[in-house]
Amino acid sequence: MVLAFHRRSGFLAVFILAGISAIESQQSGIAPDLRKSSPPRVVKPVGQEEVKLVCNVKYAKNYTWYKNHKKIHQPADRYVVKTPRYLRITDVLKSDSGTFVCIASNKYGTVNCTIRLIVEDPTVSSTNVSGAVKPHFLYPDKMAEAKLEYTEREKFQLLCDAKGTPTPTVTWYRGKEIYRGHRSDETITPGHYHYNIHFSGVDVADGGNYTCVVKNSFGTLTHSYVFDVKEYIRSLPQILSVWEQKKPEYAGTDLQMRAIVLSKNINTKFFWYFSKSFVPDETNLGTLINQTLFESRLETPSHKAASWLKWKVVLNLKNLSVADSGSYWCQAENIVGTVQRQTSLKVTTRPITPSPSGSTVSLTSISSEIEAVTQTSMGWTDRIRYPVAVIAVPVGVVALLIIASGLFYWQVKKGRASSSATMKSRRNIGSLQAKYVVQSNEYVIVPDLKGLGNDFGTN
Ligand SMILES: *[C@@H]1O[C@H](CO)[C@@H](O)[C@H](O)[C@H]1NC(C)=O
Ligand SMILES: *[C@@H]1O[C@H](CO)[C@@H](O)[C@H](O)[C@H]1NC(C)=O
Ligand SMILES: *[C@@H]1O[C@H](CO)[C@@H](O)[C@H](O)[C@H]1NC(C)=O
Ligand SMILES: *[C@@H]1O[C@H](CO)[C@@H](O)[C@H](O)[C@H]1NC(C)=O
Ligand SMILES: *[C@@H]1O[C@H](CO)[C@@H](O)[C@H](O)[C@H]1NC(C)=O
Ligand SMILES: *[C@@H]1O[C@H](CO)[C@@H](O)[C@H](O)[C@H]1NC(C)=O
Repeated sequence: MVLAFHRRSGFLAVFILAGISAIESQQSGIAPDLRKSSPPRVVKPVGQEEVKLVCNVKYAKNYTWYKNHKKIHQPADRYVVKTPRYLRITDVLKSDSGTFVCIASNKYGTVNCTIRLIVEDPTVSSTNVSGAVKPHFLYPDKMAEAKLEYTEREKFQLLCDAKGTPTPTVTWYRGKEIYRGHRSDETITPGHYHYNIHFSGVDVADGGNYTCVVKNSFGTLTHSYVFDVKEYIRSLPQILSVWEQKKPEYAGTDLQMRAIVLSKNINTKFFWYFSKSFVPDETNLGTLINQTLFESRLETPSHKAASWLKWKVVLNLKNLSVADSGSYWCQAENIVGTVQRQTSLKVTTRPITPSPSGSTVSLTSISSEIEAVTQTSMGWTDRIRYPVAVIAVPVGVVALLIIASGLFYWQVKKGRASSSATMKSRRNIGSLQAKYVVQSNEYVIVPDLKGLGNDFGTN
């Protein structure tokens, strides 16, 4: 039996070699009955301030303890006999080593307990312990598997179980400081046998570097555990703000929708949804927008495990089209759940201002303007290339106009033979043409793109 205690000069291990024997009385009646005694060899942590040598006897009238064949007289300073149960030794010294015998008797018989007590400092080779072994860890594989991160409230142990002869002691450090446990119900005594640290519901503040130093007189072992404790997340993300439309957004331009999201979980995910409906419907957010179009950036340092983390979440809409009008939902998801917030977007075609000169616009400039409008109206949702119809309709209109103006010109020429008059009306026709085309351009193309959006815009 090894019991532990603390002494000013150092820490001592107490080896109690207990031998128990009993002499049963052959007389009738009730002889003393040995109920419990210190086992032959028990290892207990050093650092206990007392050691109890147990010899618990029932029916004993006479209960006497001896050390090295000398009776222990009561009362004594550090040796306290608790009849009929044990001898308690406080502030154990190396000189307390010896053979302790307890004899309990009544008139029907006698019982004795023999316990050998060896007091030794395991870190100093004072006794020649036969078969000395330097310390070695019992569970090196388990120790190597220790996690680098735990979640608040998690239960776990840091192991440094070790064996050696004499039994090695352990001192725990947290960082450079000796670690004695941080809760009132926990005492990790340095230099004793507290091989393991138990965390029964770890705190965020418990993270750090824990090192055990295990040693006996023949060797020293150390092992460090470094871990973080992340907060147990109880909160949904919070979408603080989402982009809101404050001005007209024109087809052909780019738009960045931003949202500011708070979440305590570093693994928060973000999504954007699109629906053509302007009526927010939280049960149907619409279509998930291709993730290549959005990005999220952590704005706060991620090591601040205990606080809210802030993200900027951006949806990049390139080449807006009218078909991109509708509801946009920003969604944030963490381990607790998801939250979302809606915003509306209305895309309008940019009004086309006639050329400043106003008088002559060539046919090529008209057609390129048509093309420009057609191109810029292609939105991020449009996945088709230039539908032939979009070009065919205005080209047809232009052709008709050319024919019509040709006829008109022919009539004018027929009516007035003057060449100067012809030149003048040509100019008139040119300006008339330009006006007409620009108007019809707006008129024809816009509804056509709407139709396009309805067919393809939601993809
Ligand atoms: C204790 O009992 C054993 C026999 O079990 C005996 O040999 C021994 O002498 C006894 N010790 C004392 C001190 O009476
Ligand atoms: C108790 O027994 C011891 C011997 O074991 C003896 O010396 C002592 O006188 C006894 N005491 C009493 C009160 O009987
Ligand atoms: C210690 O014990 C070993 C055997 O276990 C023996 O060889 C050695 O001489 C002893 N040393 C001392 C100082 O007693
Ligand atoms: C942990 O502490 C030990 C002892 O102070 C030190 O040797 C080790 O480098 C530390 N580890 C880290 C990761 O800080
Ligand atoms: C998202 O867009 C990328 C590039 O534009 C494309 O490769 C990918 O297939 C798209 N994913 C889906 C699900 O549409
Ligand atoms: C807009 O879309 C058109 C057609 O899809 C494309 O050719 C053009 O490069 C896009 N513009 C921008 C700025 O992405």
